[in-house]
Amino acid sequence: MIFTVAVDGPAAAGKGTIGRALADRFGLAHLDTGLLYRAVGARGGDPVVAAQSLTPADLARDDLRTLAAGEAASRVAAIPAVRAALTRFQREFARRDGGAVLDGRDIGTVICPEAEVKLFVTASPEVRAHRRWLEVGGDQEQVLAEVRARDLRDTSRADAPLKAAGDAVTLDTTMLSIDDAVQRAADLVRARLARARARP
Ligand code: DC
Repeated sequence: MIFTVAVDGPAAAGKGTIGRALADRFGLAHLDTGLLYRAVGARGGDPVVAAQSLTPADLARDDLRTLAAGEAASRVAAIPAVRAALTRFQREFARRDGGAVLDGRDIGTVICPEAEVKLFVTASPEVRAHRRWLEVGGDQEQVLAEVRARDLRDTSRADAPLKAAGDAVTLDTTMLSIDDAVQRAADLVRARLARARARP
């Protein structure tokens, strides 16, 4: 069965948590596509060469979750040749047999416009910054400034900017607990999965 769940949205909206929970609950493979861009940024040197030669070891680095790595990822993600180098791997992952959940920025718009489920997970910048700050600590105002800067860069780049696909279901997690957000996403996936399984 081919079945893709695209989970897009801005930084720290809850995409990763929701994506992982959906994959666990429905037995689907999961790919955090932000990790690819983080690994490219963390390698240093020419980002296009890094994107073309990414290895599993690059993705296993333990410094990919830092604010600095997110910032570097957002910068290299604006380079069209970097995005092009990472496209095929993501497309193949999305359409692998058995189904897959991918979270990122452009999964429902560019990587897999034919995805059976498209979720756009969002929340106010203040709430997202607070969640990020709980994870990484430091100065709260600075974390908010970085969230805003990253939103601006991710939404305004020319190639595959962050935006909801026209047929995406928006899940605003500003006022939702993570359990409620996962529940709503799971209800949608369950319904679409039943439809996909009934396909001849
Ligand atoms: O989801 P994240 O915070 O790990 O993503 C880090 C950066 O990578 C993000 O600011 C933009 C970029 N990115 C992207 O351009 N496209 C994706 N599908 C995933 C991430």
